[in-house]
Formats: sequence, structure tokens, C-alpha cells
Amino acid sequence: MMPTLSEQMCQQAQAVQDTLKAFFDAHADTTLYKAMEYSTMCGGKRIRPFLTLEFCKMLGGSAEAAMPYACALEMIHTFSLIHDDLPCMDNDDLRRGKPTNHKVFGEAPALLAGDALVFSAFECALSNAHTDAANRLAAVQVLAKASGADGMCEGQMIDIDSEGKTLSFDQLLNLHAHKTGALLRAAAKLGAIAAGGSDADICAADTYGAGIGLAFQIIDDILDRYGSTEELGKPIGSDQKNEKTTFLSFMNAEEALEYAKKVSDEACQAIRGYANSETLCELSEYLLTRKS
Ligand code: IPE
Ligand code: IPE
Ligand code: MG
Ligand code: MG
Ligand code: MG
Repeated sequence: MMPTLSEQMCQQAQAVQDTLKAFFDAHADTTLYKAMEYSTMCGGKRIRPFLTLEFCKMLGGSAEAAMPYACALEMIHTFSLIHDDLPCMDNDDLRRGKPTNHKVFGEAPALLAGDALVFSAFECALSNAHTDAANRLAAVQVLAKASGADGMCEGQMIDIDSEGKTLSFDQLLNLHAHKTGALLRAAAKLGAIAAGGSDADICAADTYGAGIGLAFQIIDDILDRYGSTEELGKPIGSDQKNEKTTFLSFMNAEEALEYAKKVSDEACQAIRGYANSETLCELSEYLLTRKS
């Protein structure tokens, strides 16, 4: 019998966990590595690696080829979370159900742990022994572009810059596309690259990732207001505390969920033509109902 989506997610998350653990086991036991490992290994839904692995699988690629890219992206994502929680950013004390990195290690080590995770991510992607050099180059370009000043970092910059101000709806869409959409797009694209996909495959991955990226952040905005800290593993009310503009600045939760459904459906349309696209379509629906 076909495993259910949640069984597949569990299985993949365990494989990602094992690979990340092997990475840290193979490196020194310094304070900096301990700080990096603390935030990387303490839970997390592993949605981005799942996307990379599943996209690669849908296109007929191997899990071995996708795993280093999947783990690299999870390291970049973890870096973004460590820095996002710092007092100079969202100033939050709980992440993935545990005290935030700076609460345990101090601000300077947390800053450095985030920095170092970026370089470990590139080390991890570049050590992919199951792809050729041209493939690794393409993957690293996607990772770099999605993470930096044209991607997630720019999103975080707009986010911080806009605290206490009112953004227009278009500005909010641009913010979400950068801070969350960029890494989710990269996740899907890295899967397509690992599978040796065509330009059209990478383009479909990009469209799918952009749609579920926006839906993902809309749900994050809703959960920040109406979710539970216990289930989320991070504090609720962070957005209001920091006077952020979110989807709930423009509509109520029901309308925001409808909007998320619409963009999530559009995401699915981009991949429906592929055989074996069911899991990724099911994932986009599941992400609308998540509580954590
Ligand atoms: C949180 O991402 C930050 C956002 C982009 C909304 P996740 O909700 O994927 O966090 P983890 O990895 O499960 O902790
Ligand atoms: C941040 O968005 C997304 C990142 C790039 C880390 P949020 O600030 O809304 O993420 P959470 O809610 O703290 O996870
Ligand atoms: Mg933030
Ligand atoms: Mg935050
Ligand atoms: Mg949030």
C-alpha cells in the first residue's frame, strides 16, 4: 500500500535528520558547531527538504542526489530562523519548542552560528557526490540567489524596515515573496536540478514553489495570531508585538485562508501535468491545515 503523506513526511524528515547529524558528527565539537547543531537538530517540520526530495522523486531522480541540496537548504533556513529571533530582529525566546539560540549561547555565538551555517550549507551542497560539477554549480547558484540580497535576506530587510509602518498590499506580497517564497522556490528548484530536469521542469518547480511559499507565509501569519504556542513551538503574537504588516492587516483569518487556498491551487496547476504529482499537490493542501 502507498504510504500516506504524513508517513512520507515522517520518513523523509528522519532521513534528513540522519544526514544532518552525520554532517555535525563529522565536524569538530567546538562551541560554534554546538550552537549550529542545537538549532538545526532541534525539531522543525523539514518542509523545504521534503520539497527538494519530492520534486526530485517526481522527476525520476534519486534521493541520494537530492539529499545534500535538501540539507543545505535546511541549514540556510535554520540560519534565517536563528537571526530572525535575535533581539535586534523579532526578539523571540522560543523556537522549535526550545529556547532560541541566543538565549542558550548568547547573542554573539548565535550571530556566528547563523553565519557559519550559511557556509556549511555551501560545503554540504558542494560535497554532493551523486551529481556532477555542472549540477552542483547550478544548485549553488540557486541557493545563493534565493538566500541573499535578492531573496530571503532582502525579505527580512523589508520586514524589519516596515515595522510600525503600513505597507500596501502589493508591498506585503513582495515582502512575503522574498522572506519566505524565495527559499521555498529554491527548495522545489533544487529538487528539479538534482533530478537533472529540463528548463521547463525548473520553471514548473519555480511556479509551484512561489505559490506554496505565499500560502505558507499566509498560514504563518494566521497562526501567529490564532495558533497555539505549544503546537507551534514558537511564541504567538510576535507580529503584533513588533507592529508588522501581515495578511491579517488586510483581511480576516477566513479571507486570508481563502487567499492561501487560491494561490495553493494555482501552485498545483503548475505541476498537475506530471505523472506522480499527487504527493506534492497533497502537500500544498496539507500545508493549509497545518497547526505547527
Ligand atoms: C518558519 O518556517 C519561518 C517562516 C518562513 C514562516 P517553518 O514553519 O518551516 O519552521 P520550521 O522549520 O518548521 O521550524
Ligand atoms: C521570518 O518570518 C521568515 C524568515 C526568513 C526566518 P517570521 O518572522 O514570520 O517567522 P517566524 O514566525 O518567526 O517563524
Ligand atoms: Mg521575522
Ligand atoms: Mg519571527
Ligand atoms: Mg511569523
